[in-house]
Amino acid sequence: MKQNDSVLPDEGAKQPYVRDMFDRIAGTYDVVNRLMTFGLDQGWRAHLVREMYLDPKARVLDLACGTGDFLKAWSAKGMQVYGLDLSYRMLEKAKRYGPLVQGVGEALPFGDASFDAVSSGFAVRNFADFAAVLTEVHRVLRPGGVLGILEVATPKSRLVRELHGVYFGSMVPLVGGLISADRSAYRYLPESVAYLPTDERFRQLLQQSGFTQVRRISVGLGAAQLLIARRGVE
Ligand SMILES: C[S@@+](CC[C@H](N)C(=O)[O-])C[C@H]1O[C@@H](n2cnc3c(N)ncnc32)[C@H](O)[C@@H]1O
Repeated sequence: MKQNDSVLPDEGAKQPYVRDMFDRIAGTYDVVNRLMTFGLDQGWRAHLVREMYLDPKARVLDLACGTGDFLKAWSAKGMQVYGLDLSYRMLEKAKRYGPLVQGVGEALPFGDASFDAVSSGFAVRNFADFAAVLTEVHRVLRPGGVLGILEVATPKSRLVRELHGVYFGSMVPLVGGLISADRSAYRYLPESVAYLPTDERFRQLLQQSGFTQVRRISVGLGAAQLLIARRGVE
């Protein structure tokens, strides 16, 4: 049950809540992101891009593309990229990086086997129905296509976890709230970790949706994670 002072939305209201929140913070999203991760998020993105080992001619969908950081990384490699996001204001910031569509990961407006790869950064916690998103990603990937996910994580080491807890639970809402002038959005961020599947559940969800060769790479002293998997060749 939801705690009284929690900013997490009621079940069923998550998608409009998340859309409105990202619409509100789109203008300051990039600067807060860089500050919050000390710029490390860009290195994590580059790491995921390397670990996906894509052909330079690959057709890539960046799901929940936000302001377009992954689109930029893929375009720099000369790949054909498409971005999809729920928030119109976030998409406005990404428009220089490629064709974009406003939509939801739970019902992708693309045909079967349309892409060689799908990437997604910091979005798992925000999806209203992650299992439905995985079903859709599996459908739009060609057999053997690659899914790469970047998401926050809870550090395994107790000391790092405690320090990270103070930083993520107190500093991030304070600084994010001040810069964006939206305190509830930056309270949502640490609280939304409650939506994060455990390592085991993540693997299980991927496998149940037809993904194979699942790999998890911990980065940032365990504060973030990369998940790479392939659509099985049926
Ligand atoms: C934390 S931001 C991440 C943006 C970008 N991927 C990045 O790495 O910086 C999460 C994004 O997920 C989008 N989002 C949330 N739920 C979504 C859904 N169901 N379908 C598509 N996009 C969604 C939000 O609008 C937001 O732009």
